[in-house]
Amino acid sequence: MNATGPTIAGSGTAELQFTLNGKQQRLTLDPSRRLADILRSELDCLDVKIGCNAGDCGACTVLLDGKAVCACITACGRIDGGVLETAHGLTRRDPDGIKLAAAFHRHGAAQCGICTPGMIATATALLRPRTELTETAVADGLGGVLCRCTGYRKIIDAVLDAQDGSAWPTHNDHKPAGHAGEAIQRLDGFAKVMGGEMFGDDVAPQNSLVVKVIRSPFAHAGFSFGDLAAYRKKHPGIALILTSADIPGKNCFGVIAPFADQPVFAEDFVRFRGEAVAAVVGDAATIAGLDTDDFPVNWQERPALAGMPAALQAGAVQIQPGRAGNVMCEGFVARGQLEDGYAGSDVIVEAEFSTGFIEHAYIEPEAGYARKVGNRLEIYASTQSPYMDRDSMAAIMGLKPEQIRIVPTACGGGFGSKLDLSMQPFVGLAAWILQKPVRIAYSRTESMQSTTKRHPSAISIKMGASKDGRIKVLDFCGDFDTGAYASWGPTVANRVPVHASGPYYIANYRARSRAIHTHCPPSGAFRGFGVPQSAVAQESVLDDVAEKLGIDRLEIRRINALKNHQPTVTGQIFTKGVGIKQCLDALISPWERALTEAKRLNAEAIAAGSPIRRGVGVASAWYGCGNTSLPNPSTIRAGIREDGKVVLHQGAVDIGQGSNTVIAQIFATAMGIRVTDLQIIGADTDLSPDAGKTSASRQTYVTGNAARLTGENLRRQILRLGNVSERAVIQFEDGAIHLLDHGLERRIILADELPVNRHGYVLEAEETYDPPTRPLDANGQGDPYAVYGYAAHMVELDVDTALGTVKLLRFHAAHDVGKAINPMLIEGQVEGGIAQGIGLALMEEYLPGRTENLHDYLIPTFGDVPEIRTLIIQVEDGHGPYGAKGLGEHVLIPTAPAVLNAIKHATGIRIRHLPATPSKIMAALRQGGPDE
Ligand code: FES
Repeated sequence: MNATGPTIAGSGTAELQFTLNGKQQRLTLDPSRRLADILRSELDCLDVKIGCNAGDCGACTVLLDGKAVCACITACGRIDGGVLETAHGLTRRDPDGIKLAAAFHRHGAAQCGICTPGMIATATALLRPRTELTETAVADGLGGVLCRCTGYRKIIDAVLDAQDGSAWPTHNDHKPAGHAGEAIQRLDGFAKVMGGEMFGDDVAPQNSLVVKVIRSPFAHAGFSFGDLAAYRKKHPGIALILTSADIPGKNCFGVIAPFADQPVFAEDFVRFRGEAVAAVVGDAATIAGLDTDDFPVNWQERPALAGMPAALQAGAVQIQPGRAGNVMCEGFVARGQLEDGYAGSDVIVEAEFSTGFIEHAYIEPEAGYARKVGNRLEIYASTQSPYMDRDSMAAIMGLKPEQIRIVPTACGGGFGSKLDLSMQPFVGLAAWILQKPVRIAYSRTESMQSTTKRHPSAISIKMGASKDGRIKVLDFCGDFDTGAYASWGPTVANRVPVHASGPYYIANYRARSRAIHTHCPPSGAFRGFGVPQSAVAQESVLDDVAEKLGIDRLEIRRINALKNHQPTVTGQIFTKGVGIKQCLDALISPWERALTEAKRLNAEAIAAGSPIRRGVGVASAWYGCGNTSLPNPSTIRAGIREDGKVVLHQGAVDIGQGSNTVIAQIFATAMGIRVTDLQIIGADTDLSPDAGKTSASRQTYVTGNAARLTGENLRRQILRLGNVSERAVIQFEDGAIHLLDHGLERRIILADELPVNRHGYVLEAEETYDPPTRPLDANGQGDPYAVYGYAAHMVELDVDTALGTVKLLRFHAAHDVGKAINPMLIEGQVEGGIAQGIGLALMEEYLPGRTENLHDYLIPTFGDVPEIRTLIIQVEDGHGPYGAKGLGEHVLIPTAPAVLNAIKHATGIRIRHLPATPSKIMAALRQGGPDE
């Protein structure tokens, strides 16, 4: 840096000279501006991602004079005379950066990829001193960068590998067939590790107008606007002020049509803190300098129903019309007779559990832009559900669905929340009216205040079992706080009663659930649709039953594990594919070893007066893949161009879970070609058919089947054309298909022999798959899902009984995936899911008005996620492509109950109200009993 600091160039500005990724730069600007802002807006460094703008997440980390700094909290005056390096430059110019990019790719250490540039920049600084790094040193060194997808383990592996490993090429450069079962690297992974991935805030044209949303500071309030025209006049850069009066169609959206109830802009009164009432559109400088506190809106705060107890009280204000008592909907499953079950039980355990709001905390806040093209509206945004967005936007805009084009950008994490509309109506409406591109990027606080959460739950549960360990009866009753609007509340209410048994055979069963409105942010989909909450209760009481009976906790699960030909609690019978017993069996050896070790360590600790106690916990899970008893189709199209290129229209949005790779692997297997032969066109409502939403662990199973059918169809067409047998090998050459069949060779010259269709293909196939399900009757009996996946997690941990802290030591995670299409991606999903389960168990709770940023809302960091041993179990399913089952949500469900069961094993206390923070553990220890 210059000894005298930056040269002052005029009022409030300075001339800064610096090196950026090896190039000299000179800029004159306000030296107090955020470096992240300058890098992105003035220097086109879109690899610098902004996750929080507060120095909490580390996504924007760059190297300044070799040191890692958060660019969002660094004043750009600091760079004068300095050397700046970002991921884009490091992964092309720096030997360590190049090795890191290759290692991240090899290990699948970038899932959604939004944190990856910051990780690579930080890791480069760590590698440069050439000090031998250990796992702990890597975790400590990268501890300031958050990742919500990977669970950090593969990032640690990648950095250690880069320390001594090679750079490019990676496995995929050897052109693997990439068929089902091969652990190939992500087909879309290169951009993620090279800083080239374009997310919602990276795609808007220069000089787009910007939207700022005006939101309620109150959970419940009436409001009226003051003089909007005067406000606009006071700020000449404002192009438009939007309110509900500007909506040409319906001021209403929702993911489940019969329950749609959420306005784009509230009218007259608001139902939750953070609800939108208006939006201001203007040039970037005006919007950045706007003080929205003086926006002319008059609030009249009203008493708010802040939780379910208040909302359910007699006489409580009714939050939504037509939903008496604030009960939005109910779910019910019953089988057998509870009385018979109690009569046959030798022990009965009854308990109550609760969980709070959980924030998705993806590192990419909601962002995107819209533009009007002719009489159509195009929206480029981060989403999990392009076709649902299209239809919702058409209703809001009063347009036909064909007039809306949704182009998903790369999605920097979704986990369910980006299934709902968020910013799309604001940019869409503004762009349509102004006929100019309009962009938005939510602030972290805005994202946390206004988007959906995991449902808080209040559960009572009663389980009875006979002395041989067989569960005779289960009665479950759960209320779920769905907040001010419906979102996915109906899905939670329906799905929970089906799953609350766990993957066990239970003859006498009743499960009731309700979704309750409160004056809280809407609860929606979050990895599991309520099942992680119900599993906490059900797996905890099962442990307590085992303890009362004196039966080993793993053994009681094996005794009750559902088997082929046994009815589920909805009466569904699977003749193959039920894999929970195999998952539990895979844990026997580590379980016995860990229990022996825990016994020895605890005896030694007691003898030494140490407060540390070792605990070992286990929990099971099952999860139905796809919608509950509802149509759930996916369509895949593929075509061959006359130049011989195979194009796969893969519309299953890849939010980091890997559908771009897995669906391509399934298609390539079915067609009998190399996955590297494919050109993939991703989700875009103009270009790819509807592959449904990325949720409910459905893409590998449902869209995978559509891809398998499409691949088989295209293969059949080619073989027929070449008049060769089913065993023929297909190869592509420039403009031709080469067929080899038992020594016979055929060559199809595409341009000469076949006409080009309307999609530009000489051969094309398009297939749809919809899971075979059967509706549930009044007692919840039916076939809600064609496929379930199964899982069992075991954890070893230490509890410090003097401090109440929990140190996780190791997870063993057994997952029945039917067929492991890509084992590396499976491990990544498992590790990321466990990290989120750890958050649910030990630290996360969203409190409106209190934990609205990533400083106060804690998610697991590197140091919180221990070693994870993934055990892949493959019990072939009868419906899944090549036997595959879904996985996305299964990975989280057993984690929290396994942790709680291990805490109980270590200390004797049962934590029933999550999260199990040190203060709750200490309070329970002091009482010598449960946390209440
Ligand atoms: Fe780290 Fe998604 S890969 S946040």
